[in-house]
Amino acid sequence: MIIYKSQDEIELMREAGAILAETLNHLQSLARPGVTLLDLDREADKVIRARDCIPGFVGYDGYKNAICTSVNDQVVHGIPTNRKLREGDLLSLDAGLIYRGFWADAGLSVGVGKVSPEAQRLMDVTRESLAIGIDQARDGNRIGDISAAVQRHVEAAGFSVVRQFVGHGIGRDMHEDPQVPNFGIAGRGPMLKPGMVLAIEPMVNAGSPEVALLGDGWTVVTVDHSLSAYFEHSVAITAEGPEILTVSRKALPARS
Ligand code: MF3
Ligand code: CO
Repeated sequence: MIIYKSQDEIELMREAGAILAETLNHLQSLARPGVTLLDLDREADKVIRARDCIPGFVGYDGYKNAICTSVNDQVVHGIPTNRKLREGDLLSLDAGLIYRGFWADAGLSVGVGKVSPEAQRLMDVTRESLAIGIDQARDGNRIGDISAAVQRHVEAAGFSVVRQFVGHGIGRDMHEDPQVPNFGIAGRGPMLKPGMVLAIEPMVNAGSPEVALLGDGWTVVTVDHSLSAYFEHSVAITAEGPEILTVSRKALPARS
């Protein structure tokens, strides 16, 4: 069942999204060689609570951390450990929070120091595929329009989309209907209407789309150990078009 949000509810989700975006920007700036994945997790937990939000991943299905940290061939849901980031790592950060009852869910991939041209291209194509998918999140379109647009962009670049994990509706729960696959056929699936809020999250592998679950029960890796990248935004469908909720609302510093 799809739960439509009122204007007031979307305003709360906008505030939740801004706080999450600012948290992710901060974490991204800390992702340097020598910093551990747990350092990033602790910082996220602290920053989220300091803004009167709940780090909603903590306790979700028994998950213990505030963020997921997935490195190189890890696709999503990597558990933060004391592993230090190294020059050239491709780090995917996924965070969620609850603000006055509403979730925001977002994530991004970032290179640690200088990364290989292939890793950079994978991240660029994945970020672009999210933007292209978001552009399809319009009144009267269907979920399949988002899915097909993401898939087409990724595959045209020679990469592959993960099938086993998909985006989702979001609101008072992190995971609501409908599912938002990163593959599919334009014109198919549930129709998009104002008031729907979707977490769109392409997971893109440099090689095969096949993934496997590690023994920790969470970490998803590519079966062929190829690199994987991931970007996610929570997006509201409005009469005026898609609105990305997980963006900072802080004014940019003036240029000098
Ligand atoms: N952001 C992830 C998703 O969209 C959820 C992380 S799993 C959790 O499905 F357990 F850490 F919450
Ligand atoms: Co999500």
